[in-house]
Amino acid sequence: MKKYILLLVGILALLFSVSGCGGEKKNEGPKVLKVGTEVTFPPFEFREQGSREISGFDMDLIRAIGRKLDMQVELLDMDFEALIPAVKRGNLHLVIAGMTITPDRQKIVDMSEPYYTSGLSLVVKKGNTAIQKPEDLKNREVAAQIGTTGEAAAKRLAGDKVRSFKTNEEVFQALKENKVEAIIIDKPVAQYYLKKNHPDAMIAGDTFEKESYGIVMRRHGELTPKINKALAELRQSGEYDKIYEKWFGKEVK
Ligand code: ARG
Repeated sequence: MKKYILLLVGILALLFSVSGCGGEKKNEGPKVLKVGTEVTFPPFEFREQGSREISGFDMDLIRAIGRKLDMQVELLDMDFEALIPAVKRGNLHLVIAGMTITPDRQKIVDMSEPYYTSGLSLVVKKGNTAIQKPEDLKNREVAAQIGTTGEAAAKRLAGDKVRSFKTNEEVFQALKENKVEAIIIDKPVAQYYLKKNHPDAMIAGDTFEKESYGIVMRRHGELTPKINKALAELRQSGEYDKIYEKWFGKEVK
């Protein structure tokens, strides 16, 4: 019996020393930053052909933020509409996914200070002159990604005729196959798809909704001020500009 008690005491002592409860207080935040994204959104997050690695502006930005916080970034690719619920449940520490800051989202999660100014655009087949502005979408088939601000705009403008898809590859495919007449998607992403894979399509009219992207975190969590501080420091040091220029060229201010 005595032997067992001794053994127990030994094990407990070991546990305490390993977990650091035995004395000196360490400043222990999570060491790994679990980051969710959705990878059909180039040049913000995407897989280069044949590569398993996720690249893009957002990825460079979050890795730089990770370095500032002295945390290791672990990326998880998920459906776009699953990202906010995952942060809410605590399965992710944050999301960076070209996600627009909206009042509705801010009711559920925290969003960082804006890190990129964007907007929505219409994409149609080249030669389509019928669609030039958002109002022209009324009663037409329009495609968008599920859970996005583009989808919300499409529903507002085109009514029931919206076809929603999980990935933006499917969104563009639907236009290619003439299953829809137009797409609503963020302008920089439209430009990327048109240049790389869809020379038969074009942007119609002007950017019609100004948006800003923010990083998503749990509501009122301790991460929010840290992320905002890291963002501000990256802007200050010029590191943000370097990342920006790598993906978009010189910023017009
Ligand atoms: N900016 C749009 C939104 O917030 C689209 C974002 C889509 N992002 C993605 N990684 N698929 O709804």
